[in-house]
Amino acid sequence: MTSSHEGSPFRITTVCLGNICRSPMAEAVIRARVADAGLAAAVLVDSAGTDGWHIGEDADPRALQTLRAAGYDLVHSGRQITTEWFLEPGRPDLLLTMDSSNYATVIGLAPDEAARERVRMMRSFDPALAGLPAGDPRLDVPDPWYGDHDGFGEVLAMLEAAAEGLVADLPLLLDR
Ligand code: 4NP
Repeated sequence: MTSSHEGSPFRITTVCLGNICRSPMAEAVIRARVADAGLAAAVLVDSAGTDGWHIGEDADPRALQTLRAAGYDLVHSGRQITTEWFLEPGRPDLLLTMDSSNYATVIGLAPDEAARERVRMMRSFDPALAGLPAGDPRLDVPDPWYGDHDGFGEVLAMLEAAAEGLVADLPLLLDR
C-alpha cells in the first residue's frame, strides 16, 4: 500500500460521521505519533465526515479540550468525504473509519476494489483487537456527541491504542 503517487507523502484520512469529534481527534493523535516516529514528512494526516452538517466548522469544544489537556494540537475545519476524494490526485492511501456505520458508508463511496482496499477501521490497528473482521461493531469508536464529557476521554484512550498499533505497522504500509 504505497502512496498512490510515487514520491509524494503517504496520506491517511480519518473518517467519522460529523468530522467534529472522533475523526479530528484521531487525526491529531495519529499526527503526533507519526511525528514521534520521525515520519512527519512521509505521512500526511487529515480527516473528514461522511455527512456534511459541520462543513467549515471547528472541532467540538469537548474534543478540543480533551485533546489539549492531553497535549495534542489541532487546527480544524470540517469537511465531507465524497467519491471524488478517491479519484483526485493526492487521494488518501489509507482511510480509517471510526465505526462500522462510517465503514459501510465509505465502502459505498469507494469507486472500485482498489479504493475499497484502502478503507480500514481505525481500531483494527489496536493490537488488542487484532483478528476482528472489517466492519465488526466491536471495532467501533463510540460516538461521544450525545454523551457527557467522559465519553471524549474514553474515545481518546481508544484512539491512542489504535494509533500506536498503526504507527508500528507504518513501515510495512509504506513499503508495500
Ligand atoms: P463525530 O460525532 O461523528 O464523532 O464527529 C458527531 C458529531 C455531530 C453529530 C453526530 C456525530 N451530529 O449529529 O451533528
